[in-house]
Amino acid sequence: MSTSTAWSALAQHYKAIEKTHLRELFATDPGRAERYALEAAGVFVDFSKNRITDETLKLLLSLANEAGLKDKIAAMFSGEKINITENRSVLHIALRAPKGTQIFSDGKDVVPEVHEVLDKMSGFADRVRSGEWKGFTGKAIKTVVNVGIGGSDLGPVMAYEALRHYSKRDLQFRFVSNVDGTDIAEATHDLDQETTLFLIASKTFTTLETMTNAHTAREWLLKGLKDEKAVANHFVAISTNAKEVAKFGIDTANMFGFWDWVGGRYSMDSAIGLSTMIAIGPDNFRQMLAGFHEMDEHFRSTPFEKNLPVILGLLSVWYTDFFGAQTYAVLPYDQYLKRFPAYLQQLTMESNGKHVTLQGEHVAHDTGAIYWGEPGTNGQHSFYQLIHQGTRLIPADFIGFMRSLNAVGNHHDLLMANVFAQTEALAFGKTAEQVKAEGTADWLVPHRVFEGNRPSNTILAEELTPKVLGTLVALYEHIVFTQGVIWNIDSFDQWGVELGKVLAMRIVPELEGAGELKHDTSTNALIERYRKARRK
Ligand code: F6P
Repeated sequence: MSTSTAWSALAQHYKAIEKTHLRELFATDPGRAERYALEAAGVFVDFSKNRITDETLKLLLSLANEAGLKDKIAAMFSGEKINITENRSVLHIALRAPKGTQIFSDGKDVVPEVHEVLDKMSGFADRVRSGEWKGFTGKAIKTVVNVGIGGSDLGPVMAYEALRHYSKRDLQFRFVSNVDGTDIAEATHDLDQETTLFLIASKTFTTLETMTNAHTAREWLLKGLKDEKAVANHFVAISTNAKEVAKFGIDTANMFGFWDWVGGRYSMDSAIGLSTMIAIGPDNFRQMLAGFHEMDEHFRSTPFEKNLPVILGLLSVWYTDFFGAQTYAVLPYDQYLKRFPAYLQQLTMESNGKHVTLQGEHVAHDTGAIYWGEPGTNGQHSFYQLIHQGTRLIPADFIGFMRSLNAVGNHHDLLMANVFAQTEALAFGKTAEQVKAEGTADWLVPHRVFEGNRPSNTILAEELTPKVLGTLVALYEHIVFTQGVIWNIDSFDQWGVELGKVLAMRIVPELEGAGELKHDTSTNALIERYRKARRK
């Protein structure tokens, strides 16, 4: 892309606008806040505090057109195998398509199967929620433990935390992901085998961490229930791999399937969301799917100049590739969204952390930014200092809600006042004149100046509902898609996670054994050190 006409025009334009301050942009353009705002699917976005003009937007939109974004969106929605390195369709949008819609992969309409699984999940979730699903000794389930990692963990845990307000409070939910034994040990130490249900969530059902934890969970269960037959009541599987599920000993009747056209990081609305559905109930889960779908439709059919994921995706490219921004902060002002930045890290970085184009060449521009964040206002008291006065440009998304789900005193006004104050401070800062006028001693003035000109988007919705959560997740999914198209990379594979996995499996027997080590000198010495400690 960096050789395209639009790219060169943007590079030129960047030189012209690079030093222009948001103060000036606002002072000379009173209509800016109104013009640079969009609303879709219940989400309002003010993107006026970005370092852009009408010309920037025009050029960014040309970039999208030159990259063929329109055709690429159509290709995804029509089931084309746009994940070229794995020769797969990319159809997470089918997971939330209403009954009766037709979406094809390999000539087969996938929507009926999606609804079959959803119905099966609903039946199961209702039975667990009502107490009709019994453990081996006839007791109702009290705790649901999701065992999975990556997309099979981050989506479920994020959605559970985000929608906790809607969850059935007499059921508890735990999430085990890490191969570190501490995770499963802490998750199970106070649980009763008779009332615990494990959901083993793994697309491949071969992932080391999940399989290790699943086997440990089974041992823990059998220690209490002492009968292999108990597994059927206390384990269900969520996977695309029926063969491996059966091998593990889970009845495939208790398996909830999905398909290879759902990427792990795009799977929280597939059967991988079973824990979410048990927590919030099938109706709320379907509301969440409706939110996803509304944003899908907006993305698919709205002209780019009014298309939220397209505009936000292009703005992020503007900062990554022209301003050289290395990172991107996502700052939800809602405690329920505390795991949202972690979820987005996999979505954005596993998708767009690529240095090779679709044609297999090294990219000539930067790709995926480092996404990070924490809920506000906590972040304000830890890392915001660097965003305000550090040397790096960190574009940020502020996410807030008009109403709190827990209206306590004036907490919500205080929370939202901080959203508005932070974006204002970032954009406009405080000049040396202003600082001096406050009577600050001359030597102290430079320390108290806020340069400003730090860009942000403000994303607002009425209330954090299941539907709004679906809309927000789909918004970011399609931002990632837009970025990937501009960067001309495959956003849907993840070869970069393979090498470490292979090397670890080679090292496992070496830790147990005493044979000669054939790594580099550093790795050899580290393994030796561990071996010695292990023998003590
Ligand atoms: O190793 C990365 C990854 O493949 C992710 O893409 C995926 O979400 C995670 O591992 C878990 O995979 P699975 O659901 O197959 O266990």
